[in-house]
Amino acid sequence: MRRLSEDYESLLLSVLSYHNVIEMYTEQGDSILDPMVGAGTTLIEAKLLVRDAVGLDINPQAVALSKKALEFKHRPESEQEVRVGDARDLSSFEDDSFDLVVTHPPYMNIIKYSEGKIEGDLSNTGSLPKFCETIEEIARELLRVLRPDKYCAILIGDTRRGRHYVPLAFNVMQRFLKAGFVLREDIIKVQHNCSATARWRPKARAGKFYLIMHEHLFVFRKPKEGEDLARLKYSRAVLSF
Ligand SMILES: C[S@@+](CC[C@H](N)C(=O)[O-])C[C@H]1O[C@@H](n2cnc3c(N)ncnc32)[C@H](O)[C@@H]1O
Repeated sequence: MRRLSEDYESLLLSVLSYHNVIEMYTEQGDSILDPMVGAGTTLIEAKLLVRDAVGLDINPQAVALSKKALEFKHRPESEQEVRVGDARDLSSFEDDSFDLVVTHPPYMNIIKYSEGKIEGDLSNTGSLPKFCETIEEIARELLRVLRPDKYCAILIGDTRRGRHYVPLAFNVMQRFLKAGFVLREDIIKVQHNCSATARWRPKARAGKFYLIMHEHLFVFRKPKEGEDLARLKYSRAVLSF
């Protein structure tokens, strides 16, 4: 049986992109939310960059991993809090509470973080429509708790079914736009030495398809109150034109 921590090991490769996003979009003393914190990469980077941060995860084992990863000293000090929580329900936070959201949802059920045992864990669903509905619910909550004119960065990849490409990332992006965000960036993160590569390589050779070697780091902006978004209509939900 796989150790939970193995599922998170390859994610440490995301550190560089998290670091860059936090540096680009926040200042020292700002506050960051990661509502699906996993092993804690966002909070580790927040601590190193002296930003306050809150991390939630529906899986108590992930929360324990994050807490352990944060057991190091760094000066100047800042505050990082990790606790069990559900990204679908951020009612413990007031509107306009955070300067940045950085998060990395499961890619449907490609890696089952709780092996189907935790109700509400997004990694339990293999249904694209159901996954997207939940992502949209989360996006609406993230829009609410983010301060106006601030950013929300989502790292998400794609998958294959029946040897054909499933554009999970573009579906997720559309749901964030539908929730009211504006697309600021689509940063391509090249994926090296992924733990799933060895499993996919023979399938790819036999089925004549390419391995997926990238993920998308979408950066969305929450519009300002009363902002005229007419000139940004092509960076918004399709229904806006
Ligand atoms: C891809 S991992 C996050 C990895 C993280 N970036 C890291 O540094 O390890 C996705 C996480 O989302 C969590 N998750 C799934 N559904 C959730 C939900 N409804 N609310 C909060 N966390 C959830 C999983 O338990 C898992 O830890």
